[in-house]
Amino acid sequence: MKRLDGKSALITGAARGIGRGFAEGFIAQGATVAIADKNLTAAEQTASELGAGAYAVNLDVSNQVSIDAAISSVVARTGKLDILINNAALFDAAETVDITRDSFDRLYAVNVAGTLFTMQAAAKQMIAQGHGGKIINMASQAGRRGESLVLVYCSTKAAVISMTQSAGLNLIRHGINVNAIAPGVVEGEHWEHVDAMFAELEGKPLGQKKTEVAAGVPAGRFAVPADLTGMAVFLASADADYIVSQTYNVDGGQWMS
Ligand SMILES: NC(=O)c1ccc[n+]([C@@H]2O[C@H](COP(=O)([O-])OP(=O)(O)OC[C@H]3O[C@@H](n4cnc5c(N)ncnc54)[C@H](O)[C@@H]3O)[C@@H](O)[C@H]2O)c1
Repeated sequence: MKRLDGKSALITGAARGIGRGFAEGFIAQGATVAIADKNLTAAEQTASELGAGAYAVNLDVSNQVSIDAAISSVVARTGKLDILINNAALFDAAETVDITRDSFDRLYAVNVAGTLFTMQAAAKQMIAQGHGGKIINMASQAGRRGESLVLVYCSTKAAVISMTQSAGLNLIRHGINVNAIAPGVVEGEHWEHVDAMFAELEGKPLGQKKTEVAAGVPAGRFAVPADLTGMAVFLASADADYIVSQTYNVDGGQWMS
């Protein structure tokens, strides 16, 4: 018996990176996974690479019509929704005096409103089904403290931690566990993009920021997506039935709380 046998999961932003890693881990544990992403072509490619347990779903978490349609297509395909991972997010970096309203609006639309309203739509479906569910939100160590050039992103991840607390308290009466994972730094296209931004902002050669950051991780290296999968599988499984509103650091020792 696998830990997620027969479960229907939706993972946002799963076309690449950490979300793709979660999808692989969930399929290995017996779940069927909707690879839900704004980049449908990439989601279809990922789903075909992951095999029979995966299928692609078009989803823009900043659009309510798209959220509702994605939940409907999961239910049409698998008959139910048991697990949501709210993983899609955007990053930006700037001096405080250079932050634009466009950057603020884009990040809040995806990282905060997208997380909230995808969580809400999933919870409505889970309540209607009547047998609970699991919701996992992706926070970050960036939500634990500010960073000089990362005000907007850090504040969105602090909001994810806070929303996880309130939603968890509100939804546990329906048997829905809401928890979050706070990674530190994870290899992938996201961090290549972050490194390039810091290279420009701090006048560093490409790759230097990554090397500096890796040197500060107690575990001595960046994570790879598979380092986070065990926590996600645990939080999605019956082993986590009594865990409510928590955010777990999976960050190689970068933050203690
Ligand atoms: N990579 C890290 O070092 C790191 C560290 C801490 C937290 N996190 C968090 O983990 C999660 C995944 O990070 P990642 O590194 O895999 O990111 P990524 O940028 O590699 O992948 C994000 C995915 O989300 C999709 N996406 C973007 N906007 C979307 C939208 N509006 N609707 C649906 N999909 C959308 C993208 O197409 C992409 O496939 C994010 O919440 C991120 O904030 C990442």
